[in-house]
Amino acid sequence: MTRLFKDIDLLPSKEEKEACELAKVSLDQDTGKQRKLYIESYGCQMNYSDSEIVTSVMQDNGFDTTSKPDLADVIFLNTCSIRDNAEQKVWKRLKEFQILKRKNPELTVGILGCMAERLKTKFLEKEKIVDLVAGPDAYRDLPKLINQVDEGSKAVNVFLSREETYADITPVRLNSNGVSAFISIMRGCDNMCSFCVVPYTRGRERSRDVHSILVEANDLFQKGFREVTLLGQNVDSYKWQSEDQKENVNFAQLLELVARVNPMLRVRFSTSHPKDITDDVLYTIKKYDNICNYIHLPAQSGNDRILELMNRTYTRSWYLDRIEAINRIIGADCGISTDIITGFCSETEEEHQDTLSLMEQVRYHFAYMFSYSERPGTPAAKKLIDDVPEEIKKRRLNDIIEVQARTSLSRNQEEIGKVHQVLIEGYSKKSQQQLMGRNTQNTVVVFDKGNYQIGQYVDVMIENCTRGTLLGKVIEN
Ligand code: 5AD
Ligand code: SF4
Repeated sequence: MTRLFKDIDLLPSKEEKEACELAKVSLDQDTGKQRKLYIESYGCQMNYSDSEIVTSVMQDNGFDTTSKPDLADVIFLNTCSIRDNAEQKVWKRLKEFQILKRKNPELTVGILGCMAERLKTKFLEKEKIVDLVAGPDAYRDLPKLINQVDEGSKAVNVFLSREETYADITPVRLNSNGVSAFISIMRGCDNMCSFCVVPYTRGRERSRDVHSILVEANDLFQKGFREVTLLGQNVDSYKWQSEDQKENVNFAQLLELVARVNPMLRVRFSTSHPKDITDDVLYTIKKYDNICNYIHLPAQSGNDRILELMNRTYTRSWYLDRIEAINRIIGADCGISTDIITGFCSETEEEHQDTLSLMEQVRYHFAYMFSYSERPGTPAAKKLIDDVPEEIKKRRLNDIIEVQARTSLSRNQEEIGKVHQVLIEGYSKKSQQQLMGRNTQNTVVVFDKGNYQIGQYVDVMIENCTRGTLLGKVIEN
């Protein structure tokens, strides 16, 4: 999956929903280490990626991983604060772990990620079950924090760094299909969208050393991976400078460098910001066949007044200009997806209609759709009133889901009769006789297994579709 954030309840296809559920849990590993770690991740892809860093740190300090919480000596929940329902899931899960802890008082339970950063020591006061709290920039400190817990105290590190990128830590790939992997290229966000808690939980934006990114991409390719997704909250503002200031790399240049690792390595990225995505980036995508024609470009709203209240720093016409540039430079078949929030503070029915009309105009391939959830401490929570009633938020959410369902289906129907190159990722969820992969636009394609192998590229003639999936048969060249 290439989008940065996931909301299990609103994913467009069943396949993705299942993949999402699967990605939660860590793998079983038995290299004879003394203790076992169980790690569960929530929220954005960045969190999943961070869990792979955490596992690497823990592995170097005497831990194997397990997929069964009842076999674990340490349980980590890598948490998300983006919407209230994400936090509620974690509270519920903690209650379940309380039972395990009663059975095994030696068990250590730690909260990592955005909720750890947001609620800090509150976890230790409120829930006796939590022993350790570590924010997103504190993962190198985990062995020390575990030692503190071993010695009988509670342990907390929620310090946010201006430099930490974990550049030198090789992630342990959890639940990997061996084909596609995520590479974190930056951390934090400086954008301050008024609804968003991320700048407070993940801190200031910083870019990772380009050399370490290229080493990671090369290493993945050597190990058989065929697709990497470059991850950041706002990849277009990637900017790295060497200490001697002789090397300066922006996102378009980084994209080009990664594309050159090998023409057989597909490159994706997420998330782009409409105010920052440059024509240079679009021309780079066009120039390299192995950079996928897919852009996740969250609009959030189609109305200028709401966009301003959200502090998105662009207008509807600026956004549409970027869409026009994508269609002109890359091509009208470039996959485009979005994030939409309905029922933001003071949104009127007319303003909601503007969002619907934007969606009709752009014709997104996919959309991730949410109703507004006020987050404590954000500018919107401080300055605006969350005054759209829940049932109206819900109805507006249904309106946009309905438009998107129709558009996804009609986009997919247009592909019937066309041939798509697909990178095979695994078995189809419905049948072991079928394989699944994605086309360049990131749409799932399902076809009969034949003798094809996971990790192979195949050309598939599309014969049928649902709104989430293209169905076809492999064409031998
Ligand atoms: N309420 C609802 N959705 C939100 N998002 C971010 N903050 C909130 C919030 N407070 C959505 C935005 C963002 C995506 C990752 O999550 O659409 O792009
Ligand atoms: Fe949040 Fe906006 Fe940054 Fe995305 S760009 S993480 S929505 S502040």
